[in-house]
Amino acid sequence: MMQVVSLPGDPGLGPEVARYLGVVHSTFFSKRFPDGEVYLRLPEPVSGDRVLLVQSMYPNQNDRVVELLLALDVLERYGNEVILISPYLAYSRQDKEFLPGEAISLRSLVRALSSTGLSTLVTVDAHSPSAIREFLGGRRYINVVPVEVFAEALKTYRFRELTVVAPDQGAAERARALAEKIGCNYVVVRKSRDRVTGEVKHSLEPLEGLKGVAVVFDDIVSTGGTVASIANFLAARGVEVVLAVSHALLVGNALEKLAKSGVREIYSIPTVPVRVPGIRYLELVPYLVKLLKEEGIV
Ligand code: R5P
Repeated sequence: MMQVVSLPGDPGLGPEVARYLGVVHSTFFSKRFPDGEVYLRLPEPVSGDRVLLVQSMYPNQNDRVVELLLALDVLERYGNEVILISPYLAYSRQDKEFLPGEAISLRSLVRALSSTGLSTLVTVDAHSPSAIREFLGGRRYINVVPVEVFAEALKTYRFRELTVVAPDQGAAERARALAEKIGCNYVVVRKSRDRVTGEVKHSLEPLEGLKGVAVVFDDIVSTGGTVASIANFLAARGVEVVLAVSHALLVGNALEKLAKSGVREIYSIPTVPVRVPGIRYLELVPYLVKLLKEEGIV
């Protein structure tokens, strides 16, 4: 038997996936003890099932991680096969040792997950899929990059001069794939970060001469700083700026910053439980289920 089980970080995908598959959906009950510790209970425990466990990890990343570790242990103790669907895997950006002595947070998290009975990990547009694969030590891993979903929505702009912009080298492959699906060009901005001060610099020369509409395509928008500096540059040259982002965290005044910098429209997918008014959230579940079927997981 198969069933879908949600944890508190599920951005609403669990019930929808279960409906698509025609299987049972349940939710872990969770509360906090007075001292802040996490309590978790699966109301109707199952044994010997294939369980699709859904947990995203923003906001409150640390709570979400602890809930996940507890849940994986429960499901393992009851003898289930667990496929974890983590639409937003936290700590992904600290994926290597940039300065001596630093924690490689992604490695710690993924190794902790691997120490459980987890059989397969599914992420959505993870920041460092190759590092995740390495840290998982041979467990099955699928990273779903919903380029098709974004391409479908952005096709509406292709009748104007359209360019996809990768905001850093890490986004180049994603931008290439999106541009290919839409049938337009793409450019890559170079970004460098001072690892001590955290100061970020962009080389915006590749954006010189762009016209029409620019779609900035990034995996994560956190403070909005990266996209805002690109949008400022383009908007000042009369280019209409559209943002397509998988994980719209938008901390603090990020949305305001983006609007002021000239971003006219934001497209995202529901990978985190936060829904920001004004953002166009595209449907993720049909694409996710199709992919899970192709991979023989469901
Ligand atoms: C970094 O490499 C990521 O892909 C994003 O570009 C970054 O996290 C965006 O952060 P912010 O919105 O704070 O500039």
